[in-house]
Amino acid sequence: MKELIKWAKNEMPKTDCSASLSLMTAAEMEKAHRFHKSFPRYTETPLTCLSHLAAYFGIKGIYIKDESFRFELNAFKVLGGSYAIAKYIAKQLGKDISEISYDTLVSDETKKKLGDITFYTATDGNHGRGVAWAANKLRQKSVVLMPRGSSQVRLQNILKEGAEASITDLNYDDAVRLANKRASADPNGVMVQDTAWEGYEEIPGWIMQGYGSMSFETFEQLKAAGIERPTHIFVQAGVGSLAGSVVGYFANLFPDNPPVMSVVEASAADCLYISSLAGKLVGVKGSLSTIMAGLACGEGNTISWEILKNHANFFVSAPDWVSARGMRVLAVPLKGDAKVISGESGAVTAGLLFTLLRDEEYRDFRAALGINADSVVLIFSTEGNTDPERFRDAVWDGEFPSG
Ligand SMILES: Cc1ncc(COP(=O)(O)O)c(C=O)c1O
Repeated sequence: MKELIKWAKNEMPKTDCSASLSLMTAAEMEKAHRFHKSFPRYTETPLTCLSHLAAYFGIKGIYIKDESFRFELNAFKVLGGSYAIAKYIAKQLGKDISEISYDTLVSDETKKKLGDITFYTATDGNHGRGVAWAANKLRQKSVVLMPRGSSQVRLQNILKEGAEASITDLNYDDAVRLANKRASADPNGVMVQDTAWEGYEEIPGWIMQGYGSMSFETFEQLKAAGIERPTHIFVQAGVGSLAGSVVGYFANLFPDNPPVMSVVEASAADCLYISSLAGKLVGVKGSLSTIMAGLACGEGNTISWEILKNHANFFVSAPDWVSARGMRVLAVPLKGDAKVISGESGAVTAGLLFTLLRDEEYRDFRAALGINADSVVLIFSTEGNTDPERFRDAVWDGEFPSG
């Protein structure tokens, strides 16, 4: 039987999250954006308007940010790792991030001042590729540990950046613990992890700010398209760093009338969804087996959780067929809409939106969200076809059917 989408309205009591929220202001995101703009290959990624799809469903607008165009890396993730590394280096050099550009980072002078550093991380693929890429540009080393079941293509892409990388027999959360242990034992080691836990908050906070470059660009593009405020936002989550960044940014922009914001996870790793029901951050254990490799995380980011607990409106647990459906809908759009090549973790929000708008069994959720003819929905395709074989399985061969 088809596994159903589960959803929960956020009914957790409000708490003070000002410390986390203040990291995600428009001013902070603009700083990250200014830094990323200094990269030689920087271009804004497209914000694609699916106006025919919106008209088909009788809503005002559907906008999708297409991160398959992010540098040459096919995913948004590098924004976080590169910014955290830049902030770390700025701190080592006694400078403010605003004084640091790409050219300063890669200069001989910086390398001489810093000496040798090895950046450690654990990853399903996209984050590690970003960290390895940044380390490579800085002529520094990186060590990347991947969880059991990670794709060979993703491993190869990380090795190509000169990292010492391997697929472990651990799940994501245990791979993080191992990377952290190795970083602590290395006198030149720096852990650059895309999630926070008690006592490890500074670097993940910077990573979330780095992701903010994407939200900043998106909002500028929306304004240029004549949209002052999206009414609904759907954002996918693994550990929730991205979701915390997006939700935090828009909550700061619209404190009095925020968009309705939903956090979407893979059902095999829905730690934030179950945390929203439990009223506190709890984890999911086990193999976390899902095609959405980037979302296969069982323990949420503690900084992000503070933001999501107070500012996300809905938590959603989506089976794999939802993301496969999103991949197909985006790759074969209605006539007049541009296609978006989106991978398994990238397409789940599109698949969810499509399902909500189309399938009568989810009309209660649609009503709870208040989606109507005036709605302007924003979603993020966070990666392209980062695992091309799996992309073809879903899009060409119809694996993970929705019916
Ligand atoms: C493509 C993609 N989308 C979304 C996410 C989720 O980000 P986070 O783990 O910060 O929730 C990831 C994480 O690796 C990813 O690779």
